[in-house]
Amino acid sequence: MKKIISLVLVAVFVCSCAFCLTACGGSADNNSSAEVKELHMATNAFFEPYEYYKGKKIVGIDAEIAEAICDKLGYKLVIDDMDFDSIITAVTSGKADFGMAGMTVTDERKESVDFTNSYATATQVIIVPEKDSKVNNSKDLEKASIGVQLGTTGDIYVSDLKDAKIERFNKGADAVLALTQKKVDAVVIDREPAKAFVKQNEGIKILDEPFADEDYAICLAKGSELTEKFNDALKELKADGTIDKIVDKYIGE
Ligand code: ARG
Repeated sequence: MKKIISLVLVAVFVCSCAFCLTACGGSADNNSSAEVKELHMATNAFFEPYEYYKGKKIVGIDAEIAEAICDKLGYKLVIDDMDFDSIITAVTSGKADFGMAGMTVTDERKESVDFTNSYATATQVIIVPEKDSKVNNSKDLEKASIGVQLGTTGDIYVSDLKDAKIERFNKGADAVLALTQKKVDAVVIDREPAKAFVKQNEGIKILDEPFADEDYAICLAKGSELTEKFNDALKELKADGTIDKIVDKYIGE
């Protein structure tokens, strides 16, 4: 009798364990398929109108295009703010899934990351004091002290000028602050952020002469399967007018 009882008990125990395992396993599976996968975007959010803080939220052209791409591909977008010159490392190391930061496509960057098709064109411009500027054209930069954001194309271009003194800042805004404090003669930076800086600060202006034309694109790890999906999404968002709408919202021409 005792043997039978213990056999029955063992059987009940084994059955309940088995039930528990399938039930728990099942619900875990359901959870993970219901959970939307996140995509992390590396950016430097001090670059109005492309990415900047509105309160605690990062908004801007890049933030909204990224959101539209993620919506289309069924991902949840998470934006990670960091120094501009950390973005490519974040992407190559897999800490971030992609980088989007008004980032210019360059051959050197292409050696470490893949770029999507371009979603915007841009120009580098020169910001100078409104009055008594030492710099009045790009030639004058050759002997000037120039503020730039570290690791940007502005930094790369002026670094070729042998007699110029280059001051590198983590944020474009700090380079502009140095300009308003007369610590540098000029700042070289992308046109749209330059316009925002000129609006926010008195006594500075943008020189008419553009410095360099560029294309912005999204960077991804080399060989990433996402690149093609991003390109397809970008194509659709261009075709249906979403990208134009986002750009118009931030850059009212
Ligand atoms: N277009 C320039 C570059 O790619 C500057 C980009 C700076 N972007 C930023 N979010 N701070 O180097």
